[in-house]
Amino acid sequence: MPSRSEITYFGAGPAALPTDVLETAAKALVDYNGTGLGIAEHSHRSQYATDIINNAKNDLASYLDIDQSVYDILFMQAGGTGEFSAVVYNLVGAWVQNKIFEASKEVTDIPQDELVRRLKEKIANELKLDYIVTGSWSLKAYEEAIRLLGKEYVNLVVDAREHNNGKFGVIPDESTWKLSENAALVYYCDNETVDGVEFPAFPEILRSKPDSDSNPIVVADMSSNILSRRVPVNDHSIIFFGAQKNLGSAGVAVAVVKKTFLPPVTPQPQPDIMRKIGLPVPPIMMEYAPIAKNNSLYNTLSIFDVFIAGQVLKKLLATYPDKVDGQRKVAEQKAQLIYGALDKFPDVYKVVPSKGARSRMNICFRVIKNGDVDAAEKEFLAQATKLGLTGLKGHRSVGGMRASNYNSISLEGAQKLAKFIADFAQS
Ligand SMILES: Cc1ncc(COP(=O)(O)O)c(C=O)c1O
Repeated sequence: MPSRSEITYFGAGPAALPTDVLETAAKALVDYNGTGLGIAEHSHRSQYATDIINNAKNDLASYLDIDQSVYDILFMQAGGTGEFSAVVYNLVGAWVQNKIFEASKEVTDIPQDELVRRLKEKIANELKLDYIVTGSWSLKAYEEAIRLLGKEYVNLVVDAREHNNGKFGVIPDESTWKLSENAALVYYCDNETVDGVEFPAFPEILRSKPDSDSNPIVVADMSSNILSRRVPVNDHSIIFFGAQKNLGSAGVAVAVVKKTFLPPVTPQPQPDIMRKIGLPVPPIMMEYAPIAKNNSLYNTLSIFDVFIAGQVLKKLLATYPDKVDGQRKVAEQKAQLIYGALDKFPDVYKVVPSKGARSRMNICFRVIKNGDVDAAEKEFLAQATKLGLTGLKGHRSVGGMRASNYNSISLEGAQKLAKFIADFAQS
């Protein structure tokens, strides 16, 4: 069996974590800070837990330049998938609450029956959630919105497959996008982990205009590229990400939520109103307001997972004086090395996504050497594994190879893979 130091693991998530972070975490699991009790055993109501949460929030805010007077940082508990549902519940709630505000401005002390009548009319005529579908994960989020609300309220802004022979792999030009007017949310996935498609930059069409009060309410899933490049946070209403790629271990997800969508500015509508107007009431664990009010401790949170995320952030801040910009340079360098090696041998490898949509984090390719793709890919994997390059098999739904080039992959790890790609092609 190989040792940890002999392996470079390119799995897509859970992903490899820095060894020193895991060593620190392993010690803390047994005895946190010389207390004789491990961090998973200390009460989530203890000062230790509060400090771990606050430090992780502050370090994340510092690393990504998140203004905590404008955004709340929440630790949530149902993974990235839980956030597919949470964003729908919370932003539909905010949309309804704004219609309630408007109605109460028009009629003071509006009777509930009249309010319900007006809301139902607005919902039928105006409620829309916009989804930009560029890969398997945004497709899942789109399907979840339909499951929770019904198809009539969910607008497919663009389906990238329609622009690429039925397959994901491109980001269609913004001129083809069909955005709704005043949507309750516009959703996109910044990096599609399964399909290797990443937005090269924030979509210009979604950019907020200063002083406008009808800016799009943008939601981004950044589960698989967060902490790897600068994010225009202020153009977003919600950014979420599962921890288990660049941030830490599976078990927590982070939601960065604009405070204007939280009480006191925007409370969630009363459950009885939501029932009367036929819209879903969120399970309490999916509602951002109670999680925010309790500094992510509405119920028992895995402080151990937050601790690991905190250690990863501390390491990033210590490694890169220019914070995420420093990490971005390395991420780009590593991605260029691997794509460069693949592009050098077009008879042997085919990169799946188009050039303009290539992910720096999940590098998806086929091995087409000698025409027998199955055999060539089996051989590629077998030889790579022998060299300690593991986790390279693509997602079961699309096949092929996928090198997940997350932050924990060192430059040397990427160089080793690039060299193997070249050697294999020439063998
Ligand atoms: C981009 C993206 N979004 C969402 C998810 C779902 O995350 P989870 O498994 O934490 O529910 C994943 C999982 O890999 C992902 O890569």
